[in-house]
Amino acid sequence: MTGRLQGRVAVVTGASSGLGRRFASLLAREGACVAAFARREDRLADLVSEITGAGGRALAVRCDVTDEAQVVAGFDRCEAEFGPADTLINNAGIGTSGPATELSVADFDSVMATNVRSVFLASREAARRMLKSPERAARGRIVNIASLAASEALAGGSAYCASKSGVVMLTRVLAREWARAGVNVNAISPGFIETDLNTEWLHSPGGQKMIERMPRRRTMDADSLDEALVFLASDASRFVTGSELIIDDGQGL
Ligand code: NAI
Repeated sequence: MTGRLQGRVAVVTGASSGLGRRFASLLAREGACVAAFARREDRLADLVSEITGAGGRALAVRCDVTDEAQVVAGFDRCEAEFGPADTLINNAGIGTSGPATELSVADFDSVMATNVRSVFLASREAARRMLKSPERAARGRIVNIASLAASEALAGGSAYCASKSGVVMLTRVLAREWARAGVNVNAISPGFIETDLNTEWLHSPGGQKMIERMPRRRTMDADSLDEALVFLASDASRFVTGSELIIDDGQGL
């Protein structure tokens, strides 16, 4: 697997761990220059040296994706180093769980800011730059990492499920707004993959019971989204926009 994203400049948010780290490495392996956005600089430095050590190109960008000024500055840094981004992977996200009656407004707002507001901020910034030239816009690819939780009413998931539904609708609206110019906006909605986000829950008695109820009684492998991500980031998906690609191993059936 090499070279399908040669010549592309990609921003990946939440790249310091889990799926985002994997996506950044994957896009770099496929030839893209990658601007890795996250708050933890030490982890980003590791990622960048891993990518450059393997012959790829990457840049660590310290960025809290809920903060408008930091997002704009991050895209400026990417542009100064590699040129304007033509690919954006909105991956950063957090979860909370627990009954709505016990959820604080601060936690609700924090989930919404990280999962939805960040997608708006980064997509707006990416698109403003893509739309500056027809050639650039025609190559524009935005991929939002939503969740199976966008369409499943998970008990205890009021903030998380609402936020991911918001991501899917934002995907469709932005796809519509920028379709004429050529920018494609799509979402991937994964089922459970073990990462820092959910490892505690998956190993708890409740998590184990949930896995037993899944049709295949398993979570997905770390590489389960790789091909879908490369497809949606590449020219191969030029006729795909406004879609939600559910990759869940049947967990939502
Ligand atoms: P993770 O916790 O390993 O990664 C999330 C990343 O987002 C972390 O690197 C974190 O530091 C970063 N982040 C959080 N807030 C941020 C902020 N304000 N600014 C910058 N970065 C920030 O979890 P995972 O699983 O890799 O999650 C990645 C995405 O995939 C999330 O959007 C999550 O909702 C989604 N997802 C994950 C699933 C899973 O089973 N792991 C299933 C469905 C969706």
